[in-house]
Amino acid sequence: MKFTLRSLSILIAFLSFQTAFAGEGMWLPHLLKALNEGDMQSMGMKMTAEDIYSVNKGSLKDAIVHFGGFCTSEIISDKGLLLTNHHCGYGQIQSHTTLENNYIQDGFWAKTMKDELPNPGLTATFIVRIDDVTDSILKGINEGMDEKKRQSTIDKNLEAYKAAAKLGQYEDIVIRPFFKGNQYFSFVTMTYKDVRLVGTPPESIGKFGADTDNWVWPRHTGDFALFRIYAGKDNLPADYSPDNVPFTPKHFLPISLDGVAKDDFTLVFGFPGRTNEYLPSYAIEQTVDVLNPAKIAIRDKALKIVDAEMRADPQVKIQYASKFARIANYWKKWIGESQGIKATDGVGKKQRFEKEFTSRLTKNQVKGKKKGNAQTKYGDLLQQFETLYKDIEPYALSRDYFNEVVYRNVELLRTANYMTRLVKMYENNGDTGYNNYKGRLEGYLTGFYKDYQPRIDKKVFAALMEMYQGGVPISAVSAPVGALLAQRDIDGYEGIANHIYDNTILTKLDGTMRVLGMSPAEAVEKLKADPAYQFITKLTDAYHENAELQYNEIDEKLSVLQRKYMKAQMDLFPNRTFYPDANSTMRVTYGQVQGYEARDAVMYKPVTYLEGVMQKYVPGDYEFDVNPKLIELYEQKDYGQYADNGKMPVCFIGTNHTTGGNSGSPAIDAYGNLIGLNFDRAWEGTMSDINYDPSICRNIMVDVRYILFIVDKYAGASHLIDEMKLVHPKRK
Ligand code: ARG
Ligand code: ASP
Repeated sequence: MKFTLRSLSILIAFLSFQTAFAGEGMWLPHLLKALNEGDMQSMGMKMTAEDIYSVNKGSLKDAIVHFGGFCTSEIISDKGLLLTNHHCGYGQIQSHTTLENNYIQDGFWAKTMKDELPNPGLTATFIVRIDDVTDSILKGINEGMDEKKRQSTIDKNLEAYKAAAKLGQYEDIVIRPFFKGNQYFSFVTMTYKDVRLVGTPPESIGKFGADTDNWVWPRHTGDFALFRIYAGKDNLPADYSPDNVPFTPKHFLPISLDGVAKDDFTLVFGFPGRTNEYLPSYAIEQTVDVLNPAKIAIRDKALKIVDAEMRADPQVKIQYASKFARIANYWKKWIGESQGIKATDGVGKKQRFEKEFTSRLTKNQVKGKKKGNAQTKYGDLLQQFETLYKDIEPYALSRDYFNEVVYRNVELLRTANYMTRLVKMYENNGDTGYNNYKGRLEGYLTGFYKDYQPRIDKKVFAALMEMYQGGVPISAVSAPVGALLAQRDIDGYEGIANHIYDNTILTKLDGTMRVLGMSPAEAVEKLKADPAYQFITKLTDAYHENAELQYNEIDEKLSVLQRKYMKAQMDLFPNRTFYPDANSTMRVTYGQVQGYEARDAVMYKPVTYLEGVMQKYVPGDYEFDVNPKLIELYEQKDYGQYADNGKMPVCFIGTNHTTGGNSGSPAIDAYGNLIGLNFDRAWEGTMSDINYDPSICRNIMVDVRYILFIVDKYAGASHLIDEMKLVHPKRK
């Protein structure tokens, strides 16, 4: 066969559609045996799929814990010691922090188990088993079915399945759609509710480089914290009680002291939150060109205001640290995502895939026609996508503006929004509804006001109202802002801010509590007369009527199309192994320790060392200061058994496909030992959520030896090291 350039490029394109790239994929643990075991072993893994996931014996999965429902953590001792990221435990660390006991700044180490700090509301969830329940859930469903009928049938099936499930004591069952609703899996879980803080390094280690280094390689952050799960005397879940005992796990991870080298196998096990790998090119274009820029600009504005205030006042810095980090995190991620899509021609890649998809579809249809069973069931999917994405754009943009401004960046509006829910509870369910919701709200509000500065929030409000008015593409959505501006007694956006912030009762805890202390009927009347309440009500109604309803209607059509498109891709590319998008369920991703070429002529190595911390050191800086004790250990090279050829490793990167929620996930070696702690991704590759590219997508892990070094040498908490099982898998 003669190879022309054209046939060669077709061949290459063809091959790249067949397999997921090395490292790409978030796989379901119970399907590893069928789909991935061979591939994993060829990449160097020495375990079997059964060692990773088994329902019959203790396996790796029994050491993997969903932390608070938003991060991952893992058990590293037979006394329920739990390792996760500093940034995952940040809310808890902050809640125990005061100016006198400044655990954020100074760290915290419980001397004995009695000193470990309880965290009401924090949960630790284990996965007992995973099952394919597609047949039960999709019973009675057929292709041409009306969508409403389809959904109600599925809902009934879900209820029936859950009702019939045989669950042990304290077990729950969750059933989730996969592959856009083409398959369903059930997860039996067990949730522990007494999780205590054991230790955390100071922020100068746990958050070294803070927001400047966030999402960045090379990285030098010791992003870890230690917790412990407590159980009742029967080792089963129990509410917090001083009588509870440390939990005894089915499995805990031994810790390797042998470190990593380039090309080593790495497995990351955890609970990735959300990805969208099977979108059409139109959706990606819209994200990069329209939605991301708007969200980035809004956060940019809000962050600049808060940042200036935090730098000026240490009290504000404590109060706003966690909130600021949360907002800054995705602000930066979206910037990286858009750039990464452009740099790797993510849209072009999708378009080329769509071309191949269309040509296979056409061939299929021609074949079908000849046989007399025309395969027209997929129709003109891509054209439909194009139209719907065009239609949804103004509504999607309005939605992002509304969510960013109202729910995420202006604190008063969020508080006022809770009040509108309270009033609804009263209107729908009378005093009982009101009192139930009020009970939940009071706890939240006490915490909220502790860290609230109306003065700062008011500045953010004024700035964002101006952006809202100028940026929302549907004028009826922002009309309430315009109406206030037009009022004679109000002068500009600051005027709106004054009008609302100076007259609302919702900027102070005592004002709010005084109203909540009245009878429900009186409180409701008072709230309805409040200017912040009135404003949020108008904003929400305007958004709901002029954008949200329309958005939801188109979005429903898009979901149906996504489901069909997913099925079509799986049918037309039968040799490709598909993995489902992340949906906060347990997944395994495997790859290798690898550097990458970040941009023209810039090559990154995969491992960083303590030397790099010292190179970044800026005395007194709020992001890059280094603790004197750490400097001393560095100067004396006092690394104990944790050094690698005389140097102290800090972080490393790999090709594992991870996303938000994978923070705190263990990085595991070929044998099942802990080698690192996942906490981030490299900026250039943050578009892995919508388009993984093996050339630049890297996850970032703390080297476990750095964690041990900090616990042992820096904090002197050797009693914790004694609990762990340290091993040398590479020593023969
Ligand atoms: N980028 C990481 C992840 O998405 C870490 C975030 C926490 N750190 C921070 N400086 N905000 O969650
Ligand atoms: N830092 C993220 C997390 O908190 C992980 C990531 O997005 O890569 O889950």
